[in-house]
Amino acid sequence: MDTPWWRDAVVYEVYVRSFADASGDGVGDLPGVRERLPYLKDLGVDAIWLTPFYRSPMADGGYDVADYRDVDPLFGTLAEFEALVADAHAHGLRVIVDIVPNHSSDRHPWFQEALRGQGRERYLFRDRPNNWQSTFSGPAWTQVADGQWYLHLFAPGQPDLNWRNPEVHAEFLDILRFWLDRGVDGFRIDVAMGLYKAEGLPDVKDQSFKAVSPVWGQPEVHEVYRNWREVLDSYPGERMAVGEVWTDRADDLALYVRPDELHQSFNFAWLQAPWSPTGFKQVIIDTLATVPFATWVLSNHDVVRHRTRYDTADPGTGLMRAKAALLTMLALPGSAYLYQGEELGLPEVKNLPPEARQDPVFFQSKGELPGRDGCRVPLPWTPDGPSLGFSPGDTLPWLPQPDDFPAFNAETQAGDPESTLAFYRRALSTRRDLLRSLPYHLEWLDSPEGALFFTRGPLICAINCGPAPVDLPPHARVILSTAPLPDGTLPPDTATWLHAE
Ligand code: GLC
Repeated sequence: MDTPWWRDAVVYEVYVRSFADASGDGVGDLPGVRERLPYLKDLGVDAIWLTPFYRSPMADGGYDVADYRDVDPLFGTLAEFEALVADAHAHGLRVIVDIVPNHSSDRHPWFQEALRGQGRERYLFRDRPNNWQSTFSGPAWTQVADGQWYLHLFAPGQPDLNWRNPEVHAEFLDILRFWLDRGVDGFRIDVAMGLYKAEGLPDVKDQSFKAVSPVWGQPEVHEVYRNWREVLDSYPGERMAVGEVWTDRADDLALYVRPDELHQSFNFAWLQAPWSPTGFKQVIIDTLATVPFATWVLSNHDVVRHRTRYDTADPGTGLMRAKAALLTMLALPGSAYLYQGEELGLPEVKNLPPEARQDPVFFQSKGELPGRDGCRVPLPWTPDGPSLGFSPGDTLPWLPQPDDFPAFNAETQAGDPESTLAFYRRALSTRRDLLRSLPYHLEWLDSPEGALFFTRGPLICAINCGPAPVDLPPHARVILSTAPLPDGTLPPDTATWLHAE
């Protein structure tokens, strides 16, 4: 039997607002994505994941959905979505869409009705708040005009739905079918561990994030995914779901990917691993031991870009490490998720002026937390122009691009064999060529201090996280490396793929 496409796919996250703007309003949109499909095809990814493009007042960049069955005019139309899916499929690219079941927008008709006093059982209204804090900081409760309070684990504009109400289940099953009928290949499930809260909404002693607490990871949530799996399986063409499950425990993560639940879950442990061979090795061991089909991810629209996370006082180290971590991740069994702009080597934009910031995290924390705008700055496509090719004409993008962004533009990198983009293309096409000969499992090789070596069939992957060069393991030839390998050694902050025989 053929392997289902998603098991070893490379999926590229398109943060739609910041990818490419075709309409000229400074905000990325679906026709912008459609125009750039050839770029994604050339990059060598298998699928794209589109962040929410549904009708939304944009209290959280679209993760506050007012109508789950329509496209926001900011992003295009339903017809333009359908054209994008058709074109993506014609390019051999699958399309995953984001589904946001934990909360709706406060502008959703259900919540508007609730404010008028009808149907409050679809949300979590109480006479008195408990002590829960919002993930975005501040209390997780907001009071309405008649004195009741509603729960929002994120922004006040994102009221949490009550999954103990069967009507909510029926609604989301219908929403899944709506998009499956329009040809989507899968769903990314937002806040997948959050849907159920403990009965009675008890106070918590510890506000820090825990995999399983009265707030997160209630066992009832698994029934939801069993039902969703049945719907996905009833469609032809290997439709899939990947869960956004933030958990600090691999055994908890494993529950979400049981054979009758989600196909995949993001492996945030990889993204959180420190730059060390033991850190990386431990995550790989835990992952392969606990989940049937691994995934790997280094960056997304919620975290500081990995190039910047890996920065040291020495300029250039962050990018070298980012490429080395990427090459290692692409050698691992399972599928890999990339975040737009990492293929250009984009850094986190740290110096956005406060007046430009848009993320509710910045406002809810009263400026104490910078928020996530720094990884969401619109992409630089060309070396010049007011938006570096992001928008047509003179329009400025919704977040300002910093002065060093022209140096990262895609057009120049596409013509430069030494660029980060050229490296990503080589790595992805090589991985695709090798894939058929690679078994799912890996074997560890003895590694010198600071380094990590493993094999997968004929492939040897070696990464050096230490401060000194190390000798390469015995090999027949070099396939690809992130930096030159002088005299058979692997320099610090470098990774390589070698052919064993
Ligand atoms: C997820 C999204 C994030 C959003 C939050 C609330 O974590 O990735 O961007 O703010 O859910 O929907």
